[in-house]
Amino acid sequence: MKRAVYPGSFDPVTFGHLDVIKRASEIFDVLIVSVLNNREKTPLFSVEERVKILKEATKDLPNVQIDSFSGLLINYAKENDLHIAVRGLRAITDFEYELQIAQTNKLLSGGKLDTIFLTTSLEYSYLSSSSVKEIASFGGDISKCVPEFLIPQIYEKFNAKG
Ligand code: PNS
Repeated sequence: MKRAVYPGSFDPVTFGHLDVIKRASEIFDVLIVSVLNNREKTPLFSVEERVKILKEATKDLPNVQIDSFSGLLINYAKENDLHIAVRGLRAITDFEYELQIAQTNKLLSGGKLDTIFLTTSLEYSYLSSSSVKEIASFGGDISKCVPEFLIPQIYEKFNAKG
């Protein structure tokens, strides 16, 4: 059975991420989307909230599982017997960062964790979680960026911040 992990912050998940999730779920038998619990960042949504949101957003994809992890991806992959990480590439600007992570993971895992890149569909190549947060923080329209059910949750976060 071919299993892969798609790690990320997903704060919040966007149509760009969901495009990668859908396409990867058609390539692998099981795709585990795993939310990084990053203590250095101050996220908009907690890990638990992001897991719940991802579950809702992928409920029609039966071979997609949602999980979370802390620390190094290679350790999480080893513990869960995962050998392929999936990442999306939007533009050349993503490439250097992604190449560095992929090569570090390959090295640190002793060659046991490889990374496969899916180029994001052109229609979503402009999208990022950061731009969604910035647009929402100014009350802008994010309906082309995230699933409908998520829009009020994002605005609620910014309203609570004041
Ligand atoms: O959605 P993001 O924030 O671009 O995802 C980045 C992520 C989660 C893939 C990356 O930061 C990661 O795997 N972090 C876990 C820590 C780790 O393993 N670092 C080693 C790679 S340099």
